Amino acid sequence: MSSSPHAATPEPAGEAPALPAARGRGLTKVFGEGDTRVVALDSIDVDFERGRFTAIMGPSGSGKSTLMHCMAGLDSVSEGSAFIGETDLSSLDDKKLTVLRRDQVGFVFQAFNLLPTLTALENITLPMDIAGRKPDQAWLDVVIDTVGLRPRLAHRPSELSGGQQQRVACARALAGRPEIVFADEPTGNLDSRSGADVLGFLRQSVHDMGQTVVMVTHDPLAAGYADRVLFLADGRIVDEMLAPTADRVLERMKAFDPETSAAGTH
Ligand SMILES: Nc1ncnc2c1ncn2[C@@H]1O[C@H](COP(=O)(O)OP(=O)(O)OP(=O)(O)O)[C@@H](O)[C@H]1O
Ligand SMILES: [Mg+2]
Repeated sequence: MSSSPHAATPEPAGEAPALPAARGRGLTKVFGEGDTRVVALDSIDVDFERGRFTAIMGPSGSGKSTLMHCMAGLDSVSEGSAFIGETDLSSLDDKKLTVLRRDQVGFVFQAFNLLPTLTALENITLPMDIAGRKPDQAWLDVVIDTVGLRPRLAHRPSELSGGQQQRVACARALAGRPEIVFADEPTGNLDSRSGADVLGFLRQSVHDMGQTVVMVTHDPLAAGYADRVLFLADGRIVDEMLAPTADRVLERMKAFDPETSAAGTH
């Protein structure tokens, strides 16, 4: 754990290590049975430390989205446990799980998942409105300005470009300052300028506010914003890189999977 101070999550005094924001133990997810049986996650142990930015990379079908869904309580596991803080998600009934997801987890999906009848601003504050919590206006302003949405706040999703919709989704995930943010290719639909804005914002939320972020990406440049990269293959974590740079990530991808590195460079 780095010694950098962050306002939201001061390190506890004493020798006990800080509890990770989220962790998986023996996480296993099997889809289907017989001929269609797929082991999407194969007994994964993983920690997501507080105030850290983790990127998850790996070939298509390696289990990245499944890992995010199981960690975020959006899907059940077949075996093992996913924890948010101290809470084992499998110990919660549906109602408690819904509340935990709403209050402690931010999620940015591969598809945008915005409500079409609400404006951009209403979409951003929706989770807090449902929870009956007042947004922290100063933080909301930082979020909105960083993702560059101020001129579009009164627009509905159908009146926004794909990139703008994805920025609304990122703002929504971060607006309530959840325990942990899971983002599944948050820059996949953005031009490089908007993508860099979103990545810079995620980085800033980790550095300045102690936010914990986990992000799936195929893009070595995006992974370079993270504190570490986990590499998945066939439902297992096969490698880890600390303090990644885009160049080192690209080298790693070329060495292990020439096809993916070709896809990641355009
Ligand atoms: N609902 C489902 N039913 C059956 N199989 C599934 C389901 N969801 C995922 N899978 C399978 O589980 C494996 C892992 O899928 P997952 O979506 O996690 O991959 P991914 O690494 O996110 O890939 P991509 O980079 O293409 O998004 C794949 O073989 C996929 O076909
Ligand atoms: Mg995926």
